[in-house]
Amino acid sequence: MLRFIAHPLAVALTILSLSPVAATADEAGSFGQIKIGAGKALFEAECRRCHATDASDPSYGPPLEGVFGRRAGTFAGYPYSEALKTAGFVWTAGALKAWMADNDGFVPGTKMRHVGIEDATVQDFILEYLKSISG
Ligand code: HEC
Repeated sequence: MLRFIAHPLAVALTILSLSPVAATADEAGSFGQIKIGAGKALFEAECRRCHATDASDPSYGPPLEGVFGRRAGTFAGYPYSEALKTAGFVWTAGALKAWMADNDGFVPGTKMRHVGIEDATVQDFILEYLKSISG
């Protein structure tokens, strides 16, 4: 099922990022910084309750620091589902977006509750944030 209702926070942040102030700022990478900031806010709202970003903090889900480019199901010591442990792929941009859109459809048998972020803008922002904490 497709939902086309935009996440209100993403709408607000998109408007903000397209505002003349942001558009005329000519510091290299300023738009990238705005996307990372937006992604962090969305991550706090959608993912933080289960995921630490600092690998030394305890969390219900695996820590996501360094997740971009990491092989799925391989953070040392985390009790993954068999499904994710044996999935065998690397967390690329495409894989992370597919996971955000429909994690249990992408990896059937995962123990992460269905999250279902189908708004491509929200996926992009969260992805930029995950990249930024992946060194
Ligand atoms: C209700 C708790 C919960 C929420 C909310 C949640 N997750 Fe998860 N997440 C988990 C659990 C539990 C796992 C481990 C899944 C498994 O072992 O099958 C996981 C696994 C993952 C993984 C795989 C990491 C690895 O080391 O392979 C990624 C990536 C991920 N989540 C991203 C996200 C993102 C991005 C969000 C927010 C959009 C999110 N999660 C929201 C609980 C959650």
